[in-house]
Amino acid sequence: MTTPAQGLQGGLTNYGDAGFSLFLRKAFIKGAGYTDHALDRPVVGIINTTSGFNPCHGNVPQLVEAVSRGVMLSGALPMAFPTISIHESFSQPTSMYLRNLMSMDTEEMIRAQPMDAVVLIGGCDKTVPAQLMGAISAQVPAIQLVTGPMLTGGHRGTVVGACTDCRMFWGKYRAEEIDEEEISEVNSRLVGSVGTCGVMGTASTMACIAEAMGAALPGSATAPAVTADRMRLAEMTGTRAVEMAREGLSLDQVISPASVTNAFRILHAIGGSTNAVVHLAAVAGRLGYKLDLDAVDELGRDTPVLVDLKPSGDSYMQDLHRAGGLPAVMRRIRHLLDLDVMTVSGRTLGEELDAAHDAYDDTIIRDLEHPVSPTGGIAVLRGNLAPQGAILKQSAASPELVEHTGRAVVFENSRDMAERIDSDDLDVMRDDVVVLKSIGPVGAPGMPEAGYIPIPRKLARQGVKDMVRVSDGRMSGTAFGTIVLHVSPESAVGGPLAAVRNGDRIRLSLSERSINVEISDEELAARLESMEVVPRSAERGYQRLYLEQVTQAEDGLDFAFLQPAERETPVPVVK
Ligand code: FES
Ligand code: MG
Repeated sequence: MTTPAQGLQGGLTNYGDAGFSLFLRKAFIKGAGYTDHALDRPVVGIINTTSGFNPCHGNVPQLVEAVSRGVMLSGALPMAFPTISIHESFSQPTSMYLRNLMSMDTEEMIRAQPMDAVVLIGGCDKTVPAQLMGAISAQVPAIQLVTGPMLTGGHRGTVVGACTDCRMFWGKYRAEEIDEEEISEVNSRLVGSVGTCGVMGTASTMACIAEAMGAALPGSATAPAVTADRMRLAEMTGTRAVEMAREGLSLDQVISPASVTNAFRILHAIGGSTNAVVHLAAVAGRLGYKLDLDAVDELGRDTPVLVDLKPSGDSYMQDLHRAGGLPAVMRRIRHLLDLDVMTVSGRTLGEELDAAHDAYDDTIIRDLEHPVSPTGGIAVLRGNLAPQGAILKQSAASPELVEHTGRAVVFENSRDMAERIDSDDLDVMRDDVVVLKSIGPVGAPGMPEAGYIPIPRKLARQGVKDMVRVSDGRMSGTAFGTIVLHVSPESAVGGPLAAVRNGDRIRLSLSERSINVEISDEELAARLESMEVVPRSAERGYQRLYLEQVTQAEDGLDFAFLQPAERETPVPVVK
């Protein structure tokens, strides 16, 4: 339980003398022109993740202004402060590698500075989970505000948007269906404005999940970045943050096993990104909950995919917003949700959904009789290749490939793949199963989104659009294909994937929820026995911390020392 608003007095005694510490804090902040009148009130921190390298957060300055307005109109003092910012395309070796660093920055800066509540402004894929993880651990009242999706663009008369269409056009270019001129032309069209990817990628998925979990205001996930709706939501978020400061309502009181379960239901219903499974494991882990992958699968069996957005469907986030946004989706499956859970609005989810409107457009938010898919977006697989689980985004897979046995074509790591996959000499046929090792949490490191293995060029030229692909990596939420991901334990720590050889037969069965290499237990054990697993480490710095502390996919890739010692409560909960 947090203490109610204390303003600048907030608990810090960095000079050993509380009175002198406050005196100094006030003296310095007055250097920025504040009066005693301004300072004598609750403080709401606003996390500013502006960065020239992060166009997904390009509207953050305007959002900070609108949040500040809401804070001030409610009688509190807004204080914007920076943390690191992470953009998908500008983070080497991969953004996931940096997510925990951002969560630590977020946690410690919330803790270090005097604030009674904090508004978390994030958006691009890893930023929202990083902020939720940090704010949960800091135990200060916190509310998430996402930057919102980008607008769509237009290319030669068709609507386009990052980044499913980025992949689609690149695939056409690789297959020599479009030329140099067109690929460079569409490059200027795919991202229509600042804001996050406009499809149901990881950013949109995490925005919906934050809202579904009760950590963001109802209706706030979908408003496009550059709209008046987005600015109004920012003002309302600021207003609500002040009330939360006075109530002492922190995220550990809002997020319960039941609300995490709602979030997984929504993940299925929106056909959301597989990355969300990892992020939810990490967010819930901070609260002492432990991911139950089989329960994730179980929820998917009676949760339909209702949202017709790319990559599972056809539309974009701005269409979902126009159709009523996430509250309208949740109204459609309210019989599957726990409506008694609390939200940051101070009302229960049930009360919020009563106040919301039904979907305005059944082609975007399908009704239960006409789902995009009758079962959920994500299936959990097990088998001798993945004793601790693997994931298949069935809503983005090819129906003719989900029951498939094929010959393994193995790449030992990303470099091996880059060197050989486009070679005309590569021994590969369309029925083969492409295996990529060593792209897991430790292997790459950072579990990059290299799980979206390209179709070998010689097959792409023949028109092959999909093949079964298997790895211990992740894939972008904007990608599609029959792609088995998050194979755990990963090959770099001696998981069975490491033992697969060219020519082995691999069997994927969605109906049996299995992924197996067809060799005997003895043979598999003997191969693993003969391999030497070299523990990875680094000389110094963050990479060393990362390699020593990172957990496997089912534990969310959080650092072991950031998670509570006791993590027993299983989530999600299947009733
Ligand atoms: Fe930022 Fe897609 S790259 S949301
Ligand atoms: Mg992404």
